[in-house]
Amino acid sequence: MRKILIGIALGVLILFGVFFFMGPLGNRSFFNGGDSPMRQQAPPGEVSTPEEGPVQEGNEEALPIPPLMEDTDPDPDKTEWDIVADEGTKEFISGAETDTMGYNGDYLGPTIRVERGQEVTANVKNQLDGEVTTMHWHGLKVDGEDDGGPHGGIQPGETWSPQFTIDQPATTLWYHPHPEERTGYQVYKGLAGLFIIEDEFSQSLDLPKAYGENDIPLVLQDKNFKADGTFEYVLSMPDVMFGVQGETTLVNGTIDPYLTVEKGLMRFRVLNGSNASVFDLQLSNGEAFHQIASDGGFLEEPVEMDQLILGPSERAEILIDFSEMEDGETVTLETSNATFMEFRVDGSKENDFEVPETLVEIEETPVAEVEQTREFVLQGMGPNVNINGKQFDMDRIDEVVELGATEIWEVSNESGMGMMGGTIHPFHIHGTQFQILDRDGNAPPANEQGWKDSFIVQPGETVRVIAQFNHSGLFMYHCHILEHEDAGMMGQFEVVE
Ligand code: C2O
Ligand code: CU
Ligand code: CU
Repeated sequence: MRKILIGIALGVLILFGVFFFMGPLGNRSFFNGGDSPMRQQAPPGEVSTPEEGPVQEGNEEALPIPPLMEDTDPDPDKTEWDIVADEGTKEFISGAETDTMGYNGDYLGPTIRVERGQEVTANVKNQLDGEVTTMHWHGLKVDGEDDGGPHGGIQPGETWSPQFTIDQPATTLWYHPHPEERTGYQVYKGLAGLFIIEDEFSQSLDLPKAYGENDIPLVLQDKNFKADGTFEYVLSMPDVMFGVQGETTLVNGTIDPYLTVEKGLMRFRVLNGSNASVFDLQLSNGEAFHQIASDGGFLEEPVEMDQLILGPSERAEILIDFSEMEDGETVTLETSNATFMEFRVDGSKENDFEVPETLVEIEETPVAEVEQTREFVLQGMGPNVNINGKQFDMDRIDEVVELGATEIWEVSNESGMGMMGGTIHPFHIHGTQFQILDRDGNAPPANEQGWKDSFIVQPGETVRVIAQFNHSGLFMYHCHILEHEDAGMMGQFEVVE
């Protein structure tokens, strides 16, 4: 997929000139670098040749497992977290320290693990230097005031303490900042973490569930490192078009790590935590694996596949069977043009978990209950990306939805159509988990027939989803290519009684 994008990059550069003369559609400050740190942090004239730069040999480091978020409330029905967003430094490439951001650490954040029914208090402190942030629980069903969208700004030095109850099935969500026009920058710097919900069903399943041992979080990202081994968030012209796609892949913040795995079934919770890249995951030995959960929870039954396509912000739980492999044998997890990591089989650790026949029953959201169908047309390119001809405006509510309503949202990608094949857009809706009805009139693939909160829309494609809106307040819908979101490819809907 990326090859196609690169292939048309040249045409885009020419077109970019045209956009430049026309000026952006809205009055977004996307290009007025002005006081933006992403400009300040790019010292002009700093050149280093590749020969001088540090080199990273592959598979040197073991996969780091993010620690679990500490729960400071002793009451088992409640949980309280202290989360601090702060600057840090990290050596991604040995010998080269680079400036980062992280939650309770230098890069990424601890994994939150909660049980359905628990009452949460989250104390989110902004320790960032002169940088407003917000905390968004991506995929979590909470009211708008707890959702942490662009309106939930936490000023430097301030703490935001929302309270909410976990009321949705077991799944793997994530958390990340969502400040207006700054989401791409802050996520790229390292602000993101996983958010796991467990429930009675997930705890009763006969599947690997020892966090970090046989139930492994994999936050997949990509970055562009400079020759000196550091990285910056600087938007080049193609970055403005397609979002920031990196040449170097990271898993849990580490380049090309290895993981020692049991000779048996291993479970992976995979997040595409990149700013803009679509990953098509496969194993180097071509073996099949099973997807058991999508964004919002378990599928009805495991789906066998030898390739898993994940757009930005999408998650999947997969089971990989290493039981047929020999002690010491290795296999790598790859995307079309890069390697993410290596699995090394430890023959002394066997397990006999099996891929279950069935998982959960997913109730179909009844189409008969649909009160309204809304259309969202993704349009424009580069700085002009928009939805229904409009770019994001904090002061404008684009859609009003009745609390409890069931609706069909029809999302079409007409972006750049007829010019050069267009670009993909991963569409995300806050405050709900929905089901995909169809893609261009056809049933979605089996691994998309579960709960979703984000989905890829291919150029020219129309995707219909059916959603129920059971939380009130103000929410966002947007493209999850973060540079598109920051450029204004986002709208607001308010759920009202
Ligand atoms: Cu992952 Cu609007 O968010
Ligand atoms: Cu979200
Ligand atoms: Cu987009």
